[in-house]
Amino acid sequence: MKFNIAIDGPSAAGKSTIADLLAAKLGYNHLDTGAMYRAVAYQSLKKGIPTDDEKAIVAMIEAMDLQMTIDGKVILDGEDISDQIRTEEISMRASDVSKLGGCRKALVAMQQKICAEGGYILDGRDIGTVVLKDAPVKIYMVASAEARAHRRVLQNQENGLEADYDKILEDIKARDYQDMHREVSPLTKAEDAVEIDTSDMSIDEVVDWALKLIAEKTGE
Ligand code: DC
Repeated sequence: MKFNIAIDGPSAAGKSTIADLLAAKLGYNHLDTGAMYRAVAYQSLKKGIPTDDEKAIVAMIEAMDLQMTIDGKVILDGEDISDQIRTEEISMRASDVSKLGGCRKALVAMQQKICAEGGYILDGRDIGTVVLKDAPVKIYMVASAEARAHRRVLQNQENGLEADYDKILEDIKARDYQDMHREVSPLTKAEDAVEIDTSDMSIDEVVDWALKLIAEKTGE
């Protein structure tokens, strides 16, 4: 039987990149849960709903047709918004809506439903602590804020997005603080998670490390 794997950590620590590569190697699917909070942020911006109006945000989520495709696309009400949700504005707004208990409850339920059959790698902030409490493999991926800002600059340059290092570093620090200090399910390492600092590691090194850990924990 296929199981699920949890990857948590602060923004831009490389979780999604590593989850994608691991999923391809293991024949698993990758669910980027951050993209779901981003979709909520995107919709609230489009509809002009303030991020602190929990009731309206929850009603908005209930009315949303959100599809997370196997190939990593985010489809909202039939529109592919995969690229539009990657801006710095949406990043911060996603962190804002993720503070709302009602928003988290709705998205956690969707995530648990998607991966109910196993065979998924989920990355996010509360996967090991809330969404997949019983996952046999939990990874907590960290990197210095500077290393993460540097990577995000390169990524944004490749994607033709805003790439100012100082602004990105400031945004990463602000989002770290907000994600770690919110009242509901703040970003924290699950007791049984294994931590890895990827600041000075290449992508291949992190993937090799994770494959070894998965093999140790599960025999796969
Ligand atoms: O992983 P990301 O940067 O795309 O996530 C965007 C925001 O969504 C992040 O700042 C916090 C929130 N988030 C969350 O609260 N819980 C998750 N499981 C995933 C993301």
